[in-house]
Amino acid sequence: MKSLLTMNELTNKEINQIISQAQAFSEGQMWLPPEHVAVANLFFEPSTRTKSSFEMAERRLGLHVIPFEAGTSSILKGETLYDTAKTFESIGVKALVIRHNRDHFYDELSDYLSIPIINAGDGCGNHPTQSLLDLMTIYQEFNRFEGLTVAIIGDIKHSRVARSNAEALTRLGAKVIFSGPPEWFDRGNGAYENIEKAVETADVVMLLRIQHERHSDKEQRSAHEYLQAYGLTKERECRMKKQAIIMHPAPINRGVEIDSDLVECERSRIFKQMENGVYIRMAVLKKVLGEIKGGTLDEDNHKK
Ligand code: CP
Repeated sequence: MKSLLTMNELTNKEINQIISQAQAFSEGQMWLPPEHVAVANLFFEPSTRTKSSFEMAERRLGLHVIPFEAGTSSILKGETLYDTAKTFESIGVKALVIRHNRDHFYDELSDYLSIPIINAGDGCGNHPTQSLLDLMTIYQEFNRFEGLTVAIIGDIKHSRVARSNAEALTRLGAKVIFSGPPEWFDRGNGAYENIEKAVETADVVMLLRIQHERHSDKEQRSAHEYLQAYGLTKERECRMKKQAIIMHPAPINRGVEIDSDLVECERSRIFKQMENGVYIRMAVLKKVLGEIKGGTLDEDNHKK
């Protein structure tokens, strides 16, 4: 795995290996690189979870994190993403974690950089590490993917999380159904269900934030109207299957896609997803760096 750009690049076996490695990290396994390895996180869109959990993962692996803030960088002087990335490669960074608002931003980079790129979210495109941490959370709960029904509910059209998860979950044997405002769904996405059926039949109810920053029109409904029409209300939660869980990639808009009281309810795995994100990102960094030509890192460097 030179880079991780979309879930399509991972085989089912590789997905399972990354989840197993992340689980081992969560249970205390340690792995440190044998030499000075520097990485950089280039975030051109706001982020709380992905940026901070990559940084936590990098620090736990003993990597050196070279600071970068888009708002104080030479991007403001007109420098391109490509020249920014080449600069980090030139100064000795061994991997780049990049979030950008442009779909497929990596198309202009991946053939021209010798260092791996980890996609931390591209526009409405893909968010592979979010998908991996979601898969880890589901697997911890059910010990399988086959036969599960996962309802992805909300702003499907603009969600990179929906895209990455639908592709991976389907391939792993889960049934994925979608619900939410019909205008944010097209038939190419998969099977659409009304909100009541989606909530009642799912093993995993995965809610999505309205991606206002990617909409040309402002949402016309009030928060209350949206919650009643398409969100997870307390009444709907009562009709979920007994063992079903609630997930959300966050950031959450409480009282819009989910009733605020459900965010930390017994069924919710929302903060567990964030915890798992650190271990998944450790596993992805280990895999990406371990496969650099010449083997920057080696497999014997485990510590219990
Ligand atoms: N889930 C997610 O990508 O959150 P951030 O935008 O805060 O990174």
